[in-house]
Amino acid sequence: MKNETVVLLDFGAQYNQLIARRVRECGVYCELLPYDTDIEKIKARSPKGIILTGGPYNAYEEDAPLPAKALFELGIPVLGICYGLQSMSQVLGGTIDRTEKREYGAQTITLEESPIFQGLTGETQCWMSHTNQVDVLPPGFQSIAHTATCPNAAVMDQNRKFYGVQFHPEVEHTPFGQKMLHHFLFQVCGVSGDWQMDSYAKRTIEELRKKMKGQKVLCALSGGVDSSVAAVLAHKAIGDNLTCIFVDHGLLRKNEGDEVEAIFKKQFAMNLIRVDCKQRFLDLLAGVTEPEKKRKLIGAEFIKVFEEEARKLGQCDILIQGTIYPDVIESGSKNAQVIKSHHNVGGLPDVMDFKEIVEPLRDLFKDEVRKLGLELGIPEFLVFRQPFPGPGLAVRIIGDITAEKIEILQNADAIFREELEKDGIAKEINQYFAVLTNMRSVGVMGDERTYDYTLALRAVTTSDFMTADWAKIPYPTLVKVSNRITNEVRHINRVVYDITQKPPATIEWE
Ligand code: XMP
Repeated sequence: MKNETVVLLDFGAQYNQLIARRVRECGVYCELLPYDTDIEKIKARSPKGIILTGGPYNAYEEDAPLPAKALFELGIPVLGICYGLQSMSQVLGGTIDRTEKREYGAQTITLEESPIFQGLTGETQCWMSHTNQVDVLPPGFQSIAHTATCPNAAVMDQNRKFYGVQFHPEVEHTPFGQKMLHHFLFQVCGVSGDWQMDSYAKRTIEELRKKMKGQKVLCALSGGVDSSVAAVLAHKAIGDNLTCIFVDHGLLRKNEGDEVEAIFKKQFAMNLIRVDCKQRFLDLLAGVTEPEKKRKLIGAEFIKVFEEEARKLGQCDILIQGTIYPDVIESGSKNAQVIKSHHNVGGLPDVMDFKEIVEPLRDLFKDEVRKLGLELGIPEFLVFRQPFPGPGLAVRIIGDITAEKIEILQNADAIFREELEKDGIAKEINQYFAVLTNMRSVGVMGDERTYDYTLALRAVTTSDFMTADWAKIPYPTLVKVSNRITNEVRHINRVVYDITQKPPATIEWE
């Protein structure tokens, strides 16, 4: 069965997928298409509604990207957001104010009676980010909200079911935004909300099946949630035509390699090649102490191993990657501006010869990927696994890396994680792990002098990992962790807790 669909026409604002996500949160399937998508293609999707996104343009300029006039003759409800409102107004005969009255950040807004503001009228807050605004409304339109400097903060042509908002309903700083979107979808577009994550899974598997039928497909599986979900989707689509390569560089957490192998080989019966190259990475890293050098060596070697294994399999047509939406936006999508170039472990596509790279998760946010993972039957502990750096424990062992140090760290780290989980505080902390410092100090065990390593515990709360606060772990938990580690892990005689925020520190130590 085909889901009710809303089409989002992309004018290039930075976070357009956030709008798509909000629509999905209302239980409505949503597709993001370029603003100049052929009108017949749009009609073919029988959309219940069309949303025009924001974008970094001036609608009054000659070469500004504008929605096609024909779009407004389809009898389909339209919602324009920010530049979407301005470009719609421009096309329908309104004018845009060129005076540079910048409005940015949280603003007080007054909402009036309208189908999209049911139960929301009066003064409230919204998030604005614009210089231009609609000056003269197109025929048939009326204002339904204003701020101190923006008389047309929301507008409608109720007869034709055209709505426009100058503010951003998709961001959290517009507290009524989600309700407004819900009203637009359910009251104006008349959707019933027939979309759920299982529809996404079914649809994606079906699309992947069509796209990849009869081809040899390869996936680099790391055991992280993104590559795992991408691999399971692909496997459900094409079964044994998919081969996953899991490069086990020996720098994973305790038992992690075995867990990954068990899930994907046994539970999902996938073609999984686990490449045991622990010794190879130990040899490579012997005596290397400089963090950036470790990272570069590991990244390059990872590609080499992957390539070697792939070559043994013969020519593969398609590479599956677990790229998710935040990765896409960081790399700069077609219209959005580049924020920073994304570093994907290995940058595999550059060095290998594939006909196509397929990224089944590129429209989803992390929490949506997690929901999808659960939907597909991937175990919870893997789906909710915290971030783990590509270079693994190599950047959590300060100084040179040896097999013994890896084992010490794995054991200490496992105890830390176990105790946080036992005390029920693990879910409140976004990332936590142990670091083996390169420092040794004097201690006493029994009656004997020891001279052993200091272990650091790191635990942070953060929403975006760009800034972070150290987690306020209760003392009794810290006491247990410290006692167990010094008792159970040989060569650690001192445990310290890192109480530094990011910035100035980073989350990882290297
Ligand atoms: P920092 O240490 O920069 O880390 O505060 C921010 C987040 O990124 C993770 N991290 C990495 N992830 N490859 C990755 O995939 C890497 O090389 C890498 N280095 C750091 C880190 O664990 C934290 O979640």
